[in-house]
Amino acid sequence: MLHHIIESQQFDTKTIAKLFALADKLAKKPGSPLKGKIMASLFYEPSTRTRFSFESAMLHLGGQVITTENAEEFSSAQKGETLEDSIRIVSGYVDVIVMRHHQEGASRRAAAVATVPVVSAGDGPGQHPTQALLDLYTIKKEIGKIDGITIAFVGDLKNGRTIRSLSYLLGKYKNVKIFFVSPKELKVGNDIKEYLDKHAVSYEETADLAKVAPLVDVLYQTRIQKERFANEAEYKKLKGVYQIDMRLVDTMKKKSIIMHPLPRVDEILPEVDASPKALYFKQAKYGLFVRMALLASILKK
Ligand code: CP
Repeated sequence: MLHHIIESQQFDTKTIAKLFALADKLAKKPGSPLKGKIMASLFYEPSTRTRFSFESAMLHLGGQVITTENAEEFSSAQKGETLEDSIRIVSGYVDVIVMRHHQEGASRRAAAVATVPVVSAGDGPGQHPTQALLDLYTIKKEIGKIDGITIAFVGDLKNGRTIRSLSYLLGKYKNVKIFFVSPKELKVGNDIKEYLDKHAVSYEETADLAKVAPLVDVLYQTRIQKERFANEAEYKKLKGVYQIDMRLVDTMKKKSIIMHPLPRVDEILPEVDASPKALYFKQAKYGLFVRMALLASILKK
């Protein structure tokens, strides 16, 4: 049974398969399995997709939601309350806490003191495990398999928590090949590479997107994250380094897809949105079903 959701490593392929089957079922017929349950969404960092999809998931399943966006300003954190104390208090009011925080490791700290399950909705440059699950669900639905896929992660691989969490999940499947495409300043961390080595996952690092695009089943684009740079000048140097346009899309395999956790800035041009390969909006919709399955699994009696 699922309890806290803190990092991708905690999932095995059997649990993931069960979760995806439940997501398929709940997408068709949600029912009201969470009637009488309350979820708190506690967001210390901005969000559109994660917060709204978790809240919508809870409401679809008959549960209720209490919420704070910008918790740094609109909760007693503003008065100096520690994260631990806030979590102790909110634990007494709800059945599950979904939390996004700007500090890596904050979800683990919250889980250590919570008396109800804590679900990480992203912690700084750390992990975003529920995003990785919905990404994997998208790949399974759209490519039809996870074993044997070739995927390119593109952009800010140093700070991108979604690619970190998805790499950890992909390490659990067979014959997956990963291309990490980034400028040298934004290369993927050694912790990920060590994990992939340990799990015998084949990967290559390159800066050449044009060379890799025709080889992959999934092109996973990411935003260059302005908020993680020490100064504006460093960000401006790398902003726009990889842009997906229709010229690039036309070089990709017929059945390949383009994913992005969103939000995007300028890294996928709007002209690509009409392409059948552009999966990013559908990917965000799949997040609703996966989060319904997660909440139902965590809160089932
Ligand atoms: N993908 C994602 O986490 O989006 P939000 O920041 O809008 O939640």
